[in-house]
Amino acid sequence: MKLLHLDSSALGDQSVTRELGAAIVAHWRARFPVATVEYRDLDADPVPHLTGGSLARTDSVLAAQDDRLLQQFLDADVIVLGAPMYNFGIPSTLKAWIDRIAIKGKTFRYTEQGPQGLAAGKRVIVASGRGGAYGDSSPADFQEAYLRQLFGFLGIDDIEFVRAEGVGLSPQHREQALATAKASLLVPLRDAA
Ligand SMILES: Cc1cc2nc3c(=O)[nH]c(=O)nc-3n(C[C@H](O)[C@H](O)[C@H](O)COP(=O)(O)O)c2cc1C
Repeated sequence: MKLLHLDSSALGDQSVTRELGAAIVAHWRARFPVATVEYRDLDADPVPHLTGGSLARTDSVLAAQDDRLLQQFLDADVIVLGAPMYNFGIPSTLKAWIDRIAIKGKTFRYTEQGPQGLAAGKRVIVASGRGGAYGDSSPADFQEAYLRQLFGFLGIDDIEFVRAEGVGLSPQHREQALATAKASLLVPLRDAA
């Protein structure tokens, strides 16, 4: 099983989602036969914004980098995504990565019957962090709702959120939210396929 681990928080060692994502990966490694873990820090090592130039693939070096990113995603069985809520959505660094893996003809296609995801069979686990508290279905949530829509569009319905929220209320709320999120990992994850 290949696991791809991505971080996108800009808050360095103060980050909630980095801590939670690392705990999720450790949890997986302890319980399942993880053959490889590939890691990218999208904050320290960002993917460039999608531009007309990158879409046109005129720069062969950048085009090859994009191909490697897509292949890394296609090869992964499990993706652990550190995804904070920034301005009700996701960090732009994470969006830049998504712009390289949501590719018509590779990870989705349009058919007479509607769009079809081509990346089925993967599992996505999101380490989610939010300053406020939004629960499962807030109309202000464009972070988790977006990620569910995006990966569903690519054919990945197996997406789970490990959430620490209300972390901006006080240091105590932050600690409690992190502890609760980590404790939820002790509930056995469904067996890996
Ligand atoms: C640039 C920025 C934008 C943020 N926007 C929101 C927001 O819209 N709603 C919210 O509840 N919290 C917001 N927060 C708080 C973060 O969601 C919270 O700090 C969370 O822990 C971020 O995860 P991280 O610690 O891994 O970066 C924002 C934080 C930053 C740095």
